[in-house]
Amino acid sequence: MATTTQLLAARLQTAFDSVALGADPVLRRSDRADFQANGALALAKTLGESPRVIAERVLSAFDPSGIVREVELAGPGFLNLTLDTDFVMAQLEATSRDDRLLVPVTNHGTVVVDYSSPNVAKEMHAGHLRSTVIGDALVRLSAFSGATVIRENHLGDWGTPFGMLIEHLVDVGESAGVEALSVGDLDGFYRSARASFEASPTFQDRARARVVALQQGDVETLRLWTLLVDQSVAYFSTVYARLGVLLTAQDVMGESAYNDDLQHVVTDLDARGLLQISGGARCAFPPGFTNREGEPLPLIVQKSDGGFGYAATDLACIRDRVRRLHARQLLYVVGADQNQHLEMCFAVASMAGWLPEGSQAVHIGFGNMLGTDKKKFKTRSGDVVKLVDVLDEAMERATASLLERNPGSTEIEVAELARSVSIGSIKYADLSNERIKDYVFDYDRMLADRGNTGPYLMYAHARICSIFRKAQEQDVVAGPIMISAAAERDLALVLLQFPDAIASTLEDFQPSKLCTYLFELAQTFTTFYENCPVLVAADPSERSSRLALCGVVRSTLATGLSLLGMDAPEQM
Ligand code: ARG
Repeated sequence: MATTTQLLAARLQTAFDSVALGADPVLRRSDRADFQANGALALAKTLGESPRVIAERVLSAFDPSGIVREVELAGPGFLNLTLDTDFVMAQLEATSRDDRLLVPVTNHGTVVVDYSSPNVAKEMHAGHLRSTVIGDALVRLSAFSGATVIRENHLGDWGTPFGMLIEHLVDVGESAGVEALSVGDLDGFYRSARASFEASPTFQDRARARVVALQQGDVETLRLWTLLVDQSVAYFSTVYARLGVLLTAQDVMGESAYNDDLQHVVTDLDARGLLQISGGARCAFPPGFTNREGEPLPLIVQKSDGGFGYAATDLACIRDRVRRLHARQLLYVVGADQNQHLEMCFAVASMAGWLPEGSQAVHIGFGNMLGTDKKKFKTRSGDVVKLVDVLDEAMERATASLLERNPGSTEIEVAELARSVSIGSIKYADLSNERIKDYVFDYDRMLADRGNTGPYLMYAHARICSIFRKAQEQDVVAGPIMISAAAERDLALVLLQFPDAIASTLEDFQPSKLCTYLFELAQTFTTFYENCPVLVAADPSERSSRLALCGVVRSTLATGLSLLGMDAPEQM
């Protein structure tokens, strides 16, 4: 079953094609009609005629039957299109019967999403929260579009700090160390390790020797390392569970997983003539990347001491994702500050033939999370904010406001709801902003039940659920959808654009587009509900029709929220 815009676009295309081949009409929503089509302007240049004349010809070739009620020539050559209300009703009926709400399956390939990626024995910070939330939404959206999705948590689990961390574990004793990590005191552990390292030259020697032992695969060293990794992963998993994201311990594909490939990466690049020695290091120089002086920028693959850099791991990763996992899309949900590094890796991988045609690596960058003072998100003492503290604080505030709303309830009764609301608010506050921009993390704003917030959408959904509960008591059942009032028609038109919202969200991996759509839907629903009584409608068939319309709104909101990784409680 085709979507509304697909059907309309096909008709338009036929009309444009009959005037001149190669035209590419663009459909936009419009205040003057339901849609506005543009395409005559571009054709005018090629045909050397006025856009208005071309639009007239398109108009006379346009077959509106069954879809469009009115076409009007506007401005320099636009076509304003008003849909036939019977067509709108039929499309809406089809939507209400379809689990996918007419969203087509468009992706048949494999998508690997690299997200979250915290570092072992280090606290997750705001950047990891953003990566986790955005990545999770993209995982869900890609899966909904039909793709086979592989989640990869590219844990920072290798490198020189592990010499120091392992020696610190030895010093504090395994059980005390494990205890500290399991309660989530990752930063405390890391800081003490650092302090020992800075204070004592003997500790430094031990740490250096430990790194060598780790790289050589010394069994005891690997055992201690595994302990650190496993404890950290267990801790991260509790955070993921609280956040309600899909990541599990099975999705860990840490930096260390590529150790055996690193030498092959170097050999392979060398054999293709892509490496040059620069300052003793083996570097690739992908074209187009230069420093401020305009000199070519190196991507260091192997350092002068023989050690491999972050780039070697990322290159090995790309190879693995394409060769072993057959990924067509490689999504990297990583902070904007790593853009150049990733783009250089992608460029080198393409040169080496590791990103064959038809596969695509995309950096899904994002900006910083800021405090209400518009500065970097920090605690009052200037420390990194612990992610779980953020979740606790949001939970406390959500509990308080739910208790205020429902004075009869207890904290325990509202706990599950408070969890959904607090997590949903945090996620929505993040996702509703254009991801590349910095955004202000403001508890009051994100938890407000008015405005473009998580709770506003969740309440809209819950309100419809309550209409359905009342309908059941009154034996009203949903029936055929009949559109007569303007507010019904407006709501219907927004509902029919859900597939477009999903498509544009995935086109540039921008969850904020889905948020904007859902917010508009909730607002349009509110207007509808104010203007069109549902259960007290005069006529029984009108009641059933409006209830059915509510049903489509409910499923659209529920589907949309779940694609953002949010709960949609039935009662709030
Ligand atoms: N572990 C890194 C950090 O915490 C992020 C890794 C991002 N992923 C990647 N493939 N490079 O900054």
